[in-house]
Amino acid sequence: MPTVFITRKIPDSGIKLLKSKGYVVRVYSGDKPIPRAELLRRVRGADATLSLLTDKIDAAVMDAAGRRLKIIANYAVGFDNVDVKAAAARKIVVTNTPGVLTEAVAEHTFALMMAVARRIPESDVFMRGGRYHGWEPELLLGMELQGKTLGIIGLGRIGFRVAEIAVRGMGMKVTYNDVKPNADFEKQFGGRFLRLDDLLRTSDIVSIHVPLLPTTRHLIDAKKFAMMKKTAILINTSRGPIVDEKALVIALRRRIIAGAGLDVFEFEPKPAPGLAKLSNVVLTPHTASATHEARQAMSLLAAENIVAVLTGKQPLTAVKI
Ligand code: GLV
Ligand code: GLV
Repeated sequence: MPTVFITRKIPDSGIKLLKSKGYVVRVYSGDKPIPRAELLRRVRGADATLSLLTDKIDAAVMDAAGRRLKIIANYAVGFDNVDVKAAAARKIVVTNTPGVLTEAVAEHTFALMMAVARRIPESDVFMRGGRYHGWEPELLLGMELQGKTLGIIGLGRIGFRVAEIAVRGMGMKVTYNDVKPNADFEKQFGGRFLRLDDLLRTSDIVSIHVPLLPTTRHLIDAKKFAMMKKTAILINTSRGPIVDEKALVIALRRRIIAGAGLDVFEFEPKPAPGLAKLSNVVLTPHTASATHEARQAMSLLAAENIVAVLTGKQPLTAVKI
């Protein structure tokens, strides 16, 4: 029977499916990401691995697994942790989990946007600290979203859904930047395609939804912050290294931009020095997809990809290179 190695305990829907097929399912049971040496040892002889975004799956891991390895099913939509070229060279399929977490991430994007715009964490600390002594006309004033311009960097599934909520739900205007314009989107939502610099100059809120690639690393740096409105809010639910986080701390401290909502960090799990001291930033620990619905669906989709490949079928959601 084929063996599947899962690098950490995940929600059970996928594990149940794999077991129902009679596969030997081995799960690393540690409560932290699997140490490198342990990964290299435990992956040996696996026909499939189900990996997390915290695992670096490179040529060494593939070679440690050996010739039986046919699929690396990454439990994430992002796959910057997997060396897809090395996998292709070894005829190993790489899959990710697009679609099933779109809603969760889009909703989290708005949770961060509203938390920053309406200063929710600051207000919560204020209340819990016993500092509320009566209603005040100018207490904790924030920014309204209706009528504001949201600049979306990366109009994939998640960027598209964020735009839809922004326009339909919040009455915002949207503009976007991507590798190419999307006429369908423009017709549906009236969103204009802009060069990145123009988007940054004109947006009240900027939200990032691109994958981490050599071309998107530090896409937003000190120079870009200088272009943004002083009143602008930056939201990042994609990958930390897309933003130069040191430059972001300076931009927030000097009020070059007004605020930020971040779910991802350049050097996870540690936020950049000084970031957590700022009151104009809201931080979440890479939990944008952390809903029961999304995480179960991700587990199932990863397992379905494994079953497809191990039974000689096409995977549902292969990563293309
Ligand atoms: C989460 O960051 C993911 O890529 O799914
Ligand atoms: C606020 O509480 C209001 O009644 O305007």
